[in-house]
Amino acid sequence: MSVQIEDLELLDAVRDFALDHPHPDVGRFRASMRARCDCWQAVTPTYLAAADLLDASRLSIDPRAGTLMSVFERHKKRLRWEQSYKKEQGLVPDAMLAGYGFAEIIGRHGPFISERIRAGIGIWGPNIVYPVHKHKAEEVYVLIAGSAEFTVGAAAERRHSAGDIVYIESNTPHGFRTTGQSLVVYYLWQAGDLRQQSQFGE
Ligand SMILES: [Fe+2]
Repeated sequence: MSVQIEDLELLDAVRDFALDHPHPDVGRFRASMRARCDCWQAVTPTYLAAADLLDASRLSIDPRAGTLMSVFERHKKRLRWEQSYKKEQGLVPDAMLAGYGFAEIIGRHGPFISERIRAGIGIWGPNIVYPVHKHKAEEVYVLIAGSAEFTVGAAAERRHSAGDIVYIESNTPHGFRTTGQSLVVYYLWQAGDLRQQSQFGE
């Protein structure tokens, strides 16, 4: 099977968003993004309820993310929506599992395979707590829509909203709780195991 045109649209949107973004904390990931391979594999679409929240008409979106958002919205039914945690693990609240999901475009599991960088979007519904956790990879969140109270390292909890950047150094505890709006985040990971299961607690 040859690469699907819809996947190339998603790749362009995800790649260009990182390469064009002026913030230095997104710039940290530029070399990995440029060095990625465009090796592609088909992924099986998997839908999660959180994808229903991806509705531009109901969200206040960072203008910079307009193209990215519209491409994901248009293709949301053909994406593989995933969760990192399972109910039986007891790592995150059941309410989070009922109202969150992410769709990856570049990463170890494709559709564009990379061992160097992980890129996609995540969605969390309103009033969800994502407990503090950490992983070896460094990470950046670019908030596309909504807002949340973030905890990163030893810093005091701080509210961030659409257009803001939250950078997380390797092995730094981080978590958040969404406000009354859905949160949509563009995320990048690099360095370390790109599919490491997060460790919870400080
Ligand atoms: Fe993280």
